Amino acid sequence: MSPRSHNLVFLGPPGAGKGTQAARWALRHGLAHISTGDLLRENLKDQTSVGMMAQDFMDRGVLVPDDVVCQMVRDRLEHQDTEPGFILDGFPRTVGQADALARDLARRHRPLTRVVSFAVREEDLVVRLAGRLTCGRCGRVFHQKSNAPKAQGVCDDCDGELFSRSDDSEETVLARLATYREETAPLLSWYRDRDLLTDIDASQSIEAVEGALERALECQ
Ligand code: AP5
Repeated sequence: MSPRSHNLVFLGPPGAGKGTQAARWALRHGLAHISTGDLLRENLKDQTSVGMMAQDFMDRGVLVPDDVVCQMVRDRLEHQDTEPGFILDGFPRTVGQADALARDLARRHRPLTRVVSFAVREEDLVVRLAGRLTCGRCGRVFHQKSNAPKAQGVCDDCDGELFSRSDDSEETVLARLATYREETAPLLSWYRDRDLLTDIDASQSIEAVEGALERALECQ
C-alpha cells in the first residue's frame, strides 16, 4: 500500500474547514472526497426521495437519520474511484454511524487509517459560516474575507455563480453547533480510544492547516 493510500475521516464542527481541506487533500493525493452534506444537497437538488426526506432535518440543523446516511455512504463506497483511498468529510457524525462504518469497512477489508479532528473556537466558526460562499456549479467553497474569489460572486475555477447556503443563517448555525456538541463530539473519545485520532489546530490559515495536516499524516 502506498504511504498515501489513506482511508480517512475528517471530523469537526460546522465551519471547521473539513470540506476545504478534504478537497485539497483529495486532489493532491488522488483520493475520493466523500462529503455526506454534498451528497444530501445533490439529492435535494435532484428531488430524490432521500433529498426530500432530508430537507427538513437539514433546514433545522439536526442530523438526518443514521440508516439513510449510512446507506448513502455504503453505496458511494462501491464506486471505483474510492479504490486508491477516500476521505469521509462530515461522516460519521454519531456513534451509531461510526459503528456501522467500522463494520462495513471490516467486511470490505478496507479499515480506516486515520481520523483527523479539526478544532476551532466556536466564535470563529460563526464568522466563517456567516461569510461562506459556495459555487452552485462545481461546489468550490470561498469566504467573503479570508478566502475571497477573484471576482465578486463568481467562482475562480468554473465561472459559476456563488451563493450562501440556506443553513448558514445564524439561527441554523447555532442549532448545528448544538447538534455537533451533543451528537458528534462524543466521537472524539470513541476514536481516541481506538488509537485512530489525530488532532489538528484548524484555527490557523488554510495554508497553515494544510501544512499541519501534511506533517500529521505523512508520519502515519
Ligand atoms: P455539512 O454540509 O456536512 O455541514 P457541516 O458539517 O456543518 O460542515 P460545513 O460544510 O458547514 O463546514 P466545513 O467544516 O466543511 O467548512 P468549510 O471547509 O466549508 O452538513 C449539512 C447538514 O447535512 C447537516 O446539518 C445535517 O443535517 C446533514 N448531514 C450531513 N452529514 C450528515 C451525517 N453524517 N449524518 C446526518 N446528517 C448529516 O469552511 C467554512 C468556511 O470557512 C468557508 O467559507 C471557508 O472558505 C472558510 N475557511 C475554511 N478553512 C479556513 C481557515 N483555515 N481559515 C479561515 N477560513 C477558513
